[in-house]
Amino acid sequence: MNRSYNSDFILLKKYADRCNASLSSLAVEGLDNESDLSDLKDPILYVMKDGGKRIRPALTFAAAETIGLKDNDERQRALDYVACAIELLHSYSLIHDDLPAMDDDDLRRGKPTLHKVYNDAIAILVGDGLQARAFELIATAENISADQCLAISRFVSKAVGLRGMVGGQFIDIEATGQPLTLRKLKSMHNLKTGALLTASVMAGGLTASATKEELTLLENFGGHIGLAFQVTDDILDVEGTSKTLGKTPGKDAKENKPTYVNLLGMHNAKRVASESFEEALLALTSFGKSADALRKLAKLIVHRKK
Ligand code: IPE
Ligand code: IPE
Ligand code: MG
Ligand code: MG
Ligand code: MG
Repeated sequence: MNRSYNSDFILLKKYADRCNASLSSLAVEGLDNESDLSDLKDPILYVMKDGGKRIRPALTFAAAETIGLKDNDERQRALDYVACAIELLHSYSLIHDDLPAMDDDDLRRGKPTLHKVYNDAIAILVGDGLQARAFELIATAENISADQCLAISRFVSKAVGLRGMVGGQFIDIEATGQPLTLRKLKSMHNLKTGALLTASVMAGGLTASATKEELTLLENFGGHIGLAFQVTDDILDVEGTSKTLGKTPGKDAKENKPTYVNLLGMHNAKRVASESFEEALLALTSFGKSADALRKLAKLIVHRKK
């Protein structure tokens, strides 16, 4: 693609590298000291290694930058903890999403899914464990106040819980094979995917001590980019290849999943993704240049091929 797309990609790589530098060690920390638990490390490291775009932690880092958190600020280590916590929650959601009782997928991030390599019980336990570990990381992040830890936990736990991702996954499972109204489909996408993307942005803002007004703008941005993200995922399920996607395309149609492409057609699905992207950019206007990193990530979210 063009040069500006390349520079957006380099930015994502910088954030992904930062996340990867801490993620695996934070995930398995302490397991070595418990000889009875040493076998638990391998399935966790299997999931963490070569895994994914890291778009959510990238949003966390970019949101903190937007609010003006400097590289030498002592809150940067807390930001690593918070960003990694978000990625652990996402990893857990994918492990469970791929289980036979959910989407029954064999391929994820270019390799066999965790339950295929180990078994369903281990995949359930690793998912549960990563979820709990994520909140432990948020609670132990240093150099931010207890109030900040609490605010981040509150926002993130709601985003992944019954009124967030789990609720969205519930609608998804219930609606498999059934047509949904556009209203309910949008709500499903906002919950199952948009909520955690919004929380990724908000967690960066909260760590960087954003004002109430700034948080409102970030939340607005996250909501639009979250919808754009899942609509693009629906599009890629139709247009992508397993080589680039690292997962099996065509699964949504095969399982008769409710998606934007299925309900509105490809042309209109692409229109929704690009309108949501424009709305997301509008929410950032008053930040000026300091939000450039978020703008670049938003562009990648709608133009990605994987
Ligand atoms: C896939 O998320 C699951 C959805 C919410 C659509 P990503 O596309 O961010 O997956 P990875 O982390 O890059 O593998
Ligand atoms: C997943 O949506 C949303 C989650 C909460 C994990 P999908 O089921 O469409 O994600 P993929 O396509 O398997 O990555
Ligand atoms: Mg699913
Ligand atoms: Mg799935
Ligand atoms: Mg999908």
